[in-house]
Amino acid sequence: MARVHVIANQKGGVGKTTVTVNLAAVVADTLGGTADHSPVLGVSTDPQASMLEWAQRVGDALPFDFEQCHDNPALLGKLREIQQYSHIFVDTPGSLEDESILQTVLTQADDVIVPLEPEPMAFSPATRSIQRVIDPSGVPWRVLLNNWDPRDGESDLNQTRDYVRARGWPSFHTVIRHYKLHTRASAEGVTVVQYSKNRTAVEARQDFLKLALEVLGTGGAPRHAGPDNGLSNSDGPRDCSDSGDGDNGVIASGKG
Ligand SMILES: Nc1ncnc2c1ncn2[C@@H]1O[C@H](COP(=O)(O)OP(=O)(O)OP(=O)(O)O)[C@@H](O)[C@H]1O
Ligand SMILES: [Mg+2]
Repeated sequence: MARVHVIANQKGGVGKTTVTVNLAAVVADTLGGTADHSPVLGVSTDPQASMLEWAQRVGDALPFDFEQCHDNPALLGKLREIQQYSHIFVDTPGSLEDESILQTVLTQADDVIVPLEPEPMAFSPATRSIQRVIDPSGVPWRVLLNNWDPRDGESDLNQTRDYVRARGWPSFHTVIRHYKLHTRASAEGVTVVQYSKNRTAVEARQDFLKLALEVLGTGGAPRHAGPDNGLSNSDGPRDCSDSGDGDNGVIASGKG
């Protein structure tokens, strides 16, 4: 059974999509897989579909399987029934309007990663998300400091760490630094595993490798481990959008 990792913060632009794509990419790249099957599925539940556009630009080089699933709440509520992946990384919307999508996806989550930019303006919307939606879900969650530019010095970073600590929020040791490479990656149709081999690219990739170790290193069995419900669909179709023909895609029952 897959472990479902949800990346959530209802503040827009904090790096949810950046983290989802690059974390899924390093995990898929590390765990390997075949041309036909990746051990990792990336899911976008964001109606704005920026992850879909990014995935399409990467094309065949995308190291994980991908599904755009925002328009089918019933299916979003079955993510944990997908059988053929080891890890599922779920991008969520950056708006309060789409809270029901987030609520539904959280029922499927084994853990939640909450990206937070180290700038005080970002604190209060993140606090709202954590207190109103993420923490009440009962799913283990951790804050991830993202987009810190070392050239700006450590003041904002330390202030953010103090804020996180003062609230008793669990957080990742890893900080994802700001790199232009990350900002350009979507438009250029690459993920962190396709960056070139120069020193900056290696450093940028290293942050996501460290994060992957932290994410995968915790927890054992999936939180939702349960009896085999026969919902495996190794031969099932791959599109989980609501096509109106009853096609449940990766979360289909696979039963004829
Ligand atoms: N570590 C980083 N280094 C450089 N740029 C980054 C980094 N993280 C995010 N960005 C950039 O910040 C912008 C917002 O990131 P992203 O789209 O991932 O946020 P989001 O939380 O998914 O936004 P939304 O809420 O709109 O979905 C993008 O231009 C992205 O390239
Ligand atoms: Mg996004």
